[in-house]
Amino acid sequence: MASSALVLLYTLCVLCYTYSLQTLAMASSQSCRGLHLQYYTHEIRGGPNNTILLAAGTNQGGSFSDGRWGSFFVFDNMIKAGLSADSKLLGKITGTTVLTVKAGGPVQFLAQHIFGEGSKYNGSSFTTIPGGIIPGGTGYFEGYSGYGQGVEQTVVPAEPRHVYLWDVCLSKY
Ligand SMILES: *[C@@H]1O[C@H](CO)[C@@H](O)[C@H](O)[C@H]1NC(C)=O
Ligand SMILES: *[C@@H]1O[C@H](CO)[C@@H](O)[C@H](O)[C@H]1NC(C)=O
Repeated sequence: MASSALVLLYTLCVLCYTYSLQTLAMASSQSCRGLHLQYYTHEIRGGPNNTILLAAGTNQGGSFSDGRWGSFFVFDNMIKAGLSADSKLLGKITGTTVLTVKAGGPVQFLAQHIFGEGSKYNGSSFTTIPGGIIPGGTGYFEGYSGYGQGVEQTVVPAEPRHVYLWDVCLSKY
């Protein structure tokens, strides 16, 4: 049963963050026939401006790398226009990551993508649930649903900053 649940999780997983949050195949941007968004999210994994916290569960209070099966992270990361630390701030992505798979692998990632002053979608937001599914949004995104995924970038500003390129496809339902 555990293994079939795993297979199902892998099969359903569009947002395939690995436990190390490293490898992910990028969905083809060309396949999006609706509203196509791309932006970068910046996560700071330590220091005074930390944006992710090992908040509960296994190794609670530890640093990012202390995450194990049962760890529950909360994050309040930045949405930016580019890879570099000084690129324009567009909003924030805030939510939870839970390490639910004992052997490592996909994580349960739930996030609200909230666009602010720097974005043309100022005041609007949408949510991604596990599987990368976007069930709906507010403001400009009202009436849209779709899917999205973030891929960690390998050429990025120095630690403790980690940057993901998000590729989002939304359609009116
Ligand atoms: C943390 O953020 C503050 C306020 O933006 C900034 O002045 C400071 O340089 C940052 N510290 C580090 C280590 O990035
Ligand atoms: C962004 O949205 C906020 C809240 O809806 C509003 O107060 C502000 O004036 C907007 N800013 C811009 C630049 O549109």
